Amino acid sequence: MDDVIKNAVDYVKKVFKDDFSGHDYFHTLRVYKTATMLAKREGADLYVVQLGALLHDVDDFKLSPQTYHNKDNARAFLVENGVSEKDVERIVTIIDQVSFKGTDSIKPTSIEGECVQDADRLDALGAIGIARAFAYGGNHNRVMYNPEEAPKLNLSGEEYRTHVSTTINHFYEKLFTLKELLNTTSAKEIATHRENYMRSFINEFMDEWEGIK
Ligand code: ADP
Ligand code: NI
Repeated sequence: MDDVIKNAVDYVKKVFKDDFSGHDYFHTLRVYKTATMLAKREGADLYVVQLGALLHDVDDFKLSPQTYHNKDNARAFLVENGVSEKDVERIVTIIDQVSFKGTDSIKPTSIEGECVQDADRLDALGAIGIARAFAYGGNHNRVMYNPEEAPKLNLSGEEYRTHVSTTINHFYEKLFTLKELLNTTSAKEIATHRENYMRSFINEFMDEWEGIK
């Protein structure tokens, strides 16, 4: 493994060691692995994708609002590790465009950014996506489900950030919209399987809620 990549793995391990909101170190590591796989399939620049994936959450608005605007943490790490100015800018742009912002979500301007964004979104789907959603809900004192509260669809970035909802509603407000927003064909294929799995989980959940099973 390249030294800079290895240092980035060590760095994010430190940054995310106390996170219990669904953005822990292992989330970053999964995004790194999935982004690497997508980059190979798409013929993207592996080095830029891998650093973008490893650093994608270190300046996240929710986790580090004071460094979000200029991506100070990612910049400091990259400069300290001798990454060229041109690659620093490419990586910072990837990080800036990665996040889900409801109807204000951004389509990345590079194939490298597409791979990182798809990898991050795939980690919100499937069995792990279900687990992360309930972990996030518990961490934020949200109820699992309330049949009296309908999901709010087509939220803007600002609405998505400030809106408080149940974890089941989050499936409809964000998770089931992700497949259509993916950039690469490989990620869309994986997402189809993961979304089907989540829909069958919701069906089971609702049956049990009604006492049918
Ligand atoms: P991104 O990583 O694209 O910026 P988020 O930070 O919004 O996305 O989401 C990170 C993880 O937390 C995802 O797995 C997501 O499903 C979960 N999550 C975010 N908001 C909620 C919520 N309101 N209820 C349940 N889970 C949530
Ligand atoms: Ni992420």
